[in-house]
Amino acid sequence: MRYNRRVSKNSQAFDPPLEALREGTSCMERTTLVQYIRHQEKKFQGATGEFTSLMNEILIAAKIVSCQVNKAGIGEDILGLTGRTNVQGEEVQKLDEYANSTFIKLVGQSGTVCAITSEECKEPLKIPCNHGSGKYIFKMDPLDGSSNIDVNVSIGTIFSIFRKKTQGADVTDEDLFQRGDQQVAAGYAIYGSSTMFVYADNQGVRGFTLDPELGEFFLSHPGIRIPAQGSTYSVNEGHYSKWEERQKRIVNHFKEEDDKTGRPYGLRYIGSLVSDVHRTLLKGGIFMYPADKKNPNGKLRLAFEAVPLAFIVESAGGRASDGTRRILDITPTEVHQRVPLYIGSKDDVETAERIFAES
Ligand code: AHG
Ligand code: MN
Ligand code: MN
Repeated sequence: MRYNRRVSKNSQAFDPPLEALREGTSCMERTTLVQYIRHQEKKFQGATGEFTSLMNEILIAAKIVSCQVNKAGIGEDILGLTGRTNVQGEEVQKLDEYANSTFIKLVGQSGTVCAITSEECKEPLKIPCNHGSGKYIFKMDPLDGSSNIDVNVSIGTIFSIFRKKTQGADVTDEDLFQRGDQQVAAGYAIYGSSTMFVYADNQGVRGFTLDPELGEFFLSHPGIRIPAQGSTYSVNEGHYSKWEERQKRIVNHFKEEDDKTGRPYGLRYIGSLVSDVHRTLLKGGIFMYPADKKNPNGKLRLAFEAVPLAFIVESAGGRASDGTRRILDITPTEVHQRVPLYIGSKDDVETAERIFAES
């Protein structure tokens, strides 16, 4: 696998310790995700290494799931449905369950988290002190895009990391229902033509690509910034008849001919949120999953999809809202709360919000 030797123009320069890697060799060939996380740890006075351990378990779980996804259909009987439905009322795919149990096992045993909430678990899982509890809270959509598993379309895992806010061993609602702007970090693994791990912390957004021969994630996208405006819109137009008028006006706006503003935009819709947002993050544009008559609060989950992806896209210079409110400003009230999602290039999301606000 050839690494992209060109350091992207707007990549954020590394601190001295990693600059040495640049001499004569592209830093992308030498910087692993583990090295990057350890390097970040050194910047925090009094860092205990707990976050590094947590991230280590997350990336190992991602490698395990990636390995199964890449041989689904020939490996263990992992395709198809479990015959069960989850708290969302959705049919659970075997790979949903496999990914959920893999991340719960590795993260839950890491001794770094006091609670895990998952799209596939009705209630939060609280890790008792005597089982090695820690100061972080891990939230995840263990497998996003499940309906695409059997047809070999890219799918992924989306996650958020918060710090426990309250003192004492008990995990309270105050710990579990924090606003998205309280996140310590967020990321996703995308199991596609290659497996990538995209990760945002307070230093920006970086992408790491898995070298399947070495089993290591190597830095491949050192400083991801989303273009201020894109040229594609991404929405399931099959729901058009269920939309309210102002949503129809937004989509019609992006379809109108207007050279000055680069319209009409192209339509791209994969039906796997992590893939649609990954393309939007790298190329620009807008992804929308609006409310409709069937889903008055939209289909996507605030905690497990909108909040982590909003953190990542905003860290890359983009914007994410429910059409009116910034996603990261919303204080959650339920574990599985749903929310309409408009996410992507700042100018494009602001255009959608402007039309949305017109009566
Ligand atoms: P999940 O597989 O975690 O349930 O998420 C599926 C979501 C998301 O991936 C995608 O954007 C959306 O469902 C597609 O919904 P439609 O089929 O209604 O377009
Ligand atoms: Mn999902
Ligand atoms: Mn899911």
